[in-house]
Order: sequence, then structure tokens, then C-alpha cells
Amino acid sequence: SHPINIAIDGPAGAGKSTVARLVASRLHYVYVDTGAMYRAVTAIALERGIPPEDEDAVGRLAQRLRVDLRPGEEGQLVFADGEDVTSKLRTLEVNRSVSLVASYEAVRMKMAEEQRRMARAKGVVMDGRDIGTHVLPDAELKIFLTATPRERALRRFKEMGEQTEITLEQLEQEIVERDRKDSEREIAPLLQAPDARFVDSTGRSIDQIVDEIVEWGRAAS
Ligand code: C5P
Repeated sequence: SHPINIAIDGPAGAGKSTVARLVASRLHYVYVDTGAMYRAVTAIALERGIPPEDEDAVGRLAQRLRVDLRPGEEGQLVFADGEDVTSKLRTLEVNRSVSLVASYEAVRMKMAEEQRRMARAKGVVMDGRDIGTHVLPDAELKIFLTATPRERALRRFKEMGEQTEITLEQLEQEIVERDRKDSEREIAPLLQAPDARFVDSTGRSIDQIVDEIVEWGRAAS
């Protein structure tokens, strides 16, 4: 068997990162969370006072920012220009601006280039929105993972725990709005690749889904 690349795309909160991380660990592959890269650009822009609406300034920032992913004890760590920014990526402010930042061509070109470089040696499980359609169109296995908006909101709500200053309904709205922006943007929108396998995780356990994808991955490698 030879290593392959696995692309996992889908809307916000479908469980992509959990599933992708577990699939990667079962196959001894490298996990790449591309959403974290767009979040890092967004978090640094906010931190440096660059308005997310300023396409030119955000584009210039993305072009010169070095974003690295490194394995940590509890999952992937994200570094921006050498600084660990992992804890800054999942705030409400970043959630609200990330889809705008990710709609800019200069930002997407830079991120996609980095992502292709990481996948060059194969043996990568990459999750995102445009991996099967744009970043790795030749990935040997493509999954489109989704669930109902209510179930996706519920999962995120449970993850957020104590620090929540948002209701379940607000969270569901925020998720639906982010999906709309990601699906309607001009460059590399959220879309199921024609050769992707459709997986609906509503009412199914993470383990079932991971087992299924690992089996497909073994069959394709
Ligand atoms: O996966 P996650 O929810 O962390 O992604 C955050 C945002 O990053 C998405 O809503 C989307 O706007 C953007 N993104 C993207 N392309 C990817 C991954 C994420 O545009 N491949």
C-alpha cells in the first residue's frame, strides 16, 4: 500500500476536524486543519488593528504572515510568525470575520499554496471547504461531511461550555450565516466535489464515521 491524500470538506460544525484528526491518527497520516489557517490570518488582523473589510491590507498581511501547523499534545497547534496563536482562533470575533477574510483572492492563493506544499509527500488528511474541489483536486479519497444545522449548532454549543455568552439559537444562526457566505463567495466556494462521497453525520457516532472513512482510505491506498 502507498500513502494517499484524503480531503474532508463540509459546512461549519459538521465534525470535520474531529473526524479528520482521528482518521489521520488511525492511518498514521498528518492532519492539516485549513480552517485554522484562515482563522490565524483573521485573529492576527484583528490583533493588529487591520479592519477585516480592508481587502488590500488583509491580503498584504496574508502574503507576508508565516502560518505553521505543528502537532501538540491535545491536537494541532497553530503558529503565526512563530507565535502560538492556537487559543485565539475560536473566539466569536474571529467566527464573525473569518468568512470575509477567507473570501479574498490574495488570502486564498497564499493559503492554498501552503496547503499543497504540505500535501506534496502524500499521507495527509486535510479538512476545509475547498480541498476536494480546488486545493487537492487529485486527492485519492474525498469526503463531503455534513449534518443538520441544529445538530451542528448543538455540538458547537456543548464544546463552548461555560464560556458561552451566546444562545443555541444565536449559534445556529451564526453557523447558517457563515455557511451562506462560504457557499456564495466567488473564489473556491463551499461545494461538494462531484467525486466526493457524501456522509451525513446527523445521529451517527464519530466512531462509526471514522471507521467508515478509514476503511475507504485503506481500500484506496
Ligand atoms: O473549519 P472552520 O470552521 O475552522 O473554518 C473557518 C472558516 O475558514 C470557514 O467558515 C471559511 O470561511 C474558511 N475556510 C475556507 N476554506 C477552507 C477552510 C476554511 O474558506 N479550506
